[in-house]
This record gives sequence, structure tokens and C-alpha cells, in this order.
Amino acid sequence: MGVAIDVQGLTKSFGSQLIWNDVTLTLPAGEISVMLGPSGTGKSVFLKTLVGLLKPDKGSIVINGADLVTLKEHDLYEVRKLFGVLFQDGALFGSMNLFDNVAFPLREHTKKTESEIRKISLEKMELVGLQGAEDKLPGEISGGMRKRAGLARALVLDPEILLIDEPDSGLDPVRTSYINQLFIDLNAQIDATFLIVTHDINTARTVPDNIGLLYHKHLAMFGPREMLLSSEEPVVRQFLNAQTVGPIGMSEEKDADELAAEAASGQQLPPLPPIAPQLGTSNGEPRRGERPAGEWCRANGVIPPPGSFQGPHTSVQVPERTLDQRPELDVGASLDHGAAS
Ligand SMILES: Nc1ncnc2c1ncn2[C@@H]1O[C@H](COP(=O)(O)OP(=O)(O)O)[C@@H](O)[C@H]1O
Ligand SMILES: [Mg+2]
Repeated sequence: MGVAIDVQGLTKSFGSQLIWNDVTLTLPAGEISVMLGPSGTGKSVFLKTLVGLLKPDKGSIVINGADLVTLKEHDLYEVRKLFGVLFQDGALFGSMNLFDNVAFPLREHTKKTESEIRKISLEKMELVGLQGAEDKLPGEISGGMRKRAGLARALVLDPEILLIDEPDSGLDPVRTSYINQLFIDLNAQIDATFLIVTHDINTARTVPDNIGLLYHKHLAMFGPREMLLSSEEPVVRQFLNAQTVGPIGMSEEKDADELAAEAASGQQLPPLPPIAPQLGTSNGEPRRGERPAGEWCRANGVIPPPGSFQGPHTSVQVPERTLDQRPELDVGASLDHGAAS
């Protein structure tokens, strides 16, 4: 079914270095949420805190009525079984073949027989498209396959919550599209609560039900996809549209002089691009967390950017209208812009 995670007033620092302060959000049960933010803003630290590997300074993380922050080690161990985690580096054991890597949590945390373990592991490997690769070592396969093996391993204990750290870093755009489709289909199938950390703007714009943005040591915004994609808030707008004009600079934050110079030069933000339709499941069956296109905007009296929600309810297609408006874009650029589209 997936369970909700209620985060209240969460604050984390290392020594005197504050990472983020007062983060409050709810990851809705069974929905897909994406967390964005410039490098070093503490996205990975956030995932590790959620799963109880790092202790926050303040705040609560409530799952099924229990606050992870104050749980005793033994109870925390139980709650952790709800989680499947794909860490940023995949964290596979280099000396074990893919099958043994995937089977590892079952051998470690359950008393299942070897034949049950074999059945479950092969099933999850097939789910992520790794059938036939059981005997390969992590060093012998591509980055994309390693990510998928890490994902299969995160799935073997049938998690209620799946945390995924940068599944698409180092993947080419085609493989990124495949893995995005895999997330949508997986979510429909296992109905778990997903949190995906990504840098890929196209992923952020088309995959999740909810988007969050960590910036400058706090959660700048968290909410339904349509809310952030129609937001005029400068940081959100700049990040989700991969623009250089705005408060975020090369070293995370621009100083007052830079912003004043930008204002003086009269640099104008382009209009918000259309909101692309959300990626649908391969078989067309709706997910539990899926909402009709435009529902949030209508319910909140927000007029979405012109041309929004056009195109088929599937895949990462660029709406025609954007291509018309930007005839100078070549294919590579339109992919980079992600769905500036
Ligand atoms: N275990 C740790 N001890 C001390 N500092 C850490 C630790 N883990 C992460 N950090 C620091 O926390 C900040 C955020 O890191 P991270 O979560 O990896 O960023 P992101 O994933 O957003 O790129 C960085 O400055 C990093 O150096
Ligand atoms: Mg990280």
C-alpha cells in the first residue's frame, strides 16, 4: 500500500555546518515525490536521515504513528524494513555477482530458504530488465545496469517506501527515459511511496506527483507537480527551468552585486514553458497517486502556462508548440533543456 512519511521541523548539521533547517513536508502514501536542489544542499543527507542512518538535530519523522528520531535501536531496525534504498553510488559489492548482490538483503534479514531467495531475486531482476545478467560482476556492466541492480536489491524486501538517490546521474537521455518509465510502472505495480533525488529537470517535470526543492539550507517549496511547475517563485522557477537568470548562481547563491547587475541589465525571464503531461504507465492503467491533468491548477484557480497538458499521456514527448516557438533548438539542446518543454 505504501505509507506516508510525515516530516516536521527537521534540522541537520555536522558540527557547526548547518545542512538544512526546519524541513517540514509529507510524502503522501503511494505517491512519487522528487527532491531537487543544487549540489551540496543535503539531498543525500536528507535520504539518509529519513532511513535513520543519520540523526537529525531536531524535528520528527513519523511513519505509521512512530517517530523514527526517538525510536530505540531495536524498533528502528523494524521500521527500517519498510524501506528500500538505492544509494547514489549503487553501493554494490564488487566481488559478488549481480544475483548475490540482489539476494543479499534476503539472506541477511530473512529466514527464507535458498530456493525462495532464488525465486524472489530472479523475479526482481526480471522486473528491472536484468534477466540473464545474474552471473555478471558489477565491474563488468554499464552504469545503467548497476543502477538497475541496485534497484532490484532495494526491491527484494517488498518495501513500502523506496528512496532513490540520483538514479539518472551518468546515464544518457535514452536510458534516463527508460529508468523513468520503470519508476512509473514500478510505482503502479508495488504501490510504494517513492522519493527520488534527481538533477534531471526533464525527470522532475514529467515523472513525480510531487516536487520539493532544497535550497540555501531550507526547503524552498514542496507540493504537487503542477504547483511547482506553475510557480513564479524565483528560485523554484529558475531551478525547474534550468535558467541562469535568478537567485541561484554558480556557487549556489548569487551575491547582492550580481543580482543588482542582472536587474540593471534588464534581463527578462522568458515566460513559463507549458507543463508537459505526466508520464503514464506502459500499459495505460492509472497509478493510485495519479491525478487528472490540470486538476491542481483548476482546484487552486491557477492558470497554467499556455499549451500545458497537450500531447499524449505518456513518455517524454516535447509538446509541438514548444518546438514551434524554438526553431533554433537542435535535438541535443531540447533534451538538455529537458522539458523546458
Ligand atoms: N557524514 C558526513 N559528515 C560530515 N559532513 C557531511 C556528511 N555527509 C554529508 N556531509 C556534508 O553535507 C553537505 C550535503 O551533502 P549531500 O547530502 O551529499 O549533498 P547533495 O546530495 O545535495 O549533493 C555537504 O557539504 C557534505 O560535505
Ligand atoms: Mg547527493
